[in-house]
Amino acid sequence: MFKYLISIALICTSSLFLPVSEPACTEEEISMGWDQNTPLSTVLFSLGEEKPAHFVAPDENEIRKGKELFFEGRTTGPNGKKSAIISKFYKCNNCHNTQREDPELTITDPQARLDYAVANNLPFLQGTTLYGTVNKSSWYNDDYIKKYGDLVLKARNNLREATQICAQHCSQGRVLKKWEEDALMAYFGSIEYKMADLKLSKEEWDNLLKNGNNAAKQEELRKMIHSKYLSKSPATFTEPPKDREAGYPVAAKNAANGKEVFERSCLACHSPESKVSDSYFEDDKLTFNYLKQRMNSVMYDSYYDLIRHGTYASKGHRRYMPNYTAEKLSDQQVEDLRAYIEEKSK
Ligand code: HEC
Ligand code: HEC
Repeated sequence: MFKYLISIALICTSSLFLPVSEPACTEEEISMGWDQNTPLSTVLFSLGEEKPAHFVAPDENEIRKGKELFFEGRTTGPNGKKSAIISKFYKCNNCHNTQREDPELTITDPQARLDYAVANNLPFLQGTTLYGTVNKSSWYNDDYIKKYGDLVLKARNNLREATQICAQHCSQGRVLKKWEEDALMAYFGSIEYKMADLKLSKEEWDNLLKNGNNAAKQEELRKMIHSKYLSKSPATFTEPPKDREAGYPVAAKNAANGKEVFERSCLACHSPESKVSDSYFEDDKLTFNYLKQRMNSVMYDSYYDLIRHGTYASKGHRRYMPNYTAEKLSDQQVEDLRAYIEEKSK
């Protein structure tokens, strides 16, 4: 936990009455008006980057509406009445976090993400966090084309389209009205990366402040900034092991790590409180025996098939389980969870 607090401690303060623990802003910081807390897009736009199509000017009321749509599925519409629910089956946060979830923004590593989730008490979900999604330039990447076909082509370079697909298909809901789309864009804008997230070195930060107004240096500075985070969230679909009895070949299994996967991921939808799935898992032998029986099941989707392929929505049963890509759950983590299930069913 401690190591993630360090970046927050770097935020300077321009107040005259400095608490001793916070560093004062340097002259350059004050003259550019930027500090570690400045939203990334503010800096990029000043450096000459074009505003993306999803950009909307920040507005507290719009942000609040977008947040309500995200967490509750509805808000107050332009006519002053409660809007229609987006989906009866899901809320957006069933599959997406809205906080930072990766310790490093330049790589995608499911175990580093799980450790970070444990340290920061976050759920561990199939969808990518929407923190910083407005800073990316591509969505629904790579293998999602296998699941959603041509639908994703529109979404690849358009966050509004990506949001529409998710409302209609991932959430099994409906088309979003233009005002709802705008409110969600405003909310996403409010959870964009801050300069502190990029962890610039002292030299990089000083250089940025010194040359931010120098037109000849701006392109280089933009490139430096873009090198500090992934512009998209990679997605690789993988298969169950050939021999489901033997499982994935891994050197050793860590049941304690599997417990974290179970609690932060599976229970996010399968606990009696969450109401996402009507199949409830509890911390008892019944649950773990049931899961153990599914390990190599041929009658029903096996444990591995459920994780790697998910289930599909059908008429009359629209709730489905999203698959875990390799980036969201590693083979090692699948085996760690198996070890936990086997330990608990003894
Ligand atoms: C049942 C799970 C589920 C629900 C509910 C859901 N999503 Fe998603 N969403 C996904 C998955 C899976 C992806 C695939 C890409 C990814 O996130 O890595 C995705 C992708 C996205 C993306 C593109 C992210 C990226 O980095 O590629 C956006 C934006 C998004 N969803 C917004 C929403 C919004 C807004 C809602 C609520 C209206 C919502 N989602 C509800 C599962 C879900
Ligand atoms: C985003 C929500 C979500 C997450 C996370 C999730 N599931 Fe599911 N799961 C579902 C839904 C929805 C179904 C479909 C059955 C239903 O309608 O309840 C399902 C079905 C299942 C089933 C079959 C249930 C049955 O009655 O046939 C099993 C087993 C299962 N999930 C295990 C897991 C495990 C193990 C994990 C963690 C690795 C997990 N799920 C994570 C939503 C989720």
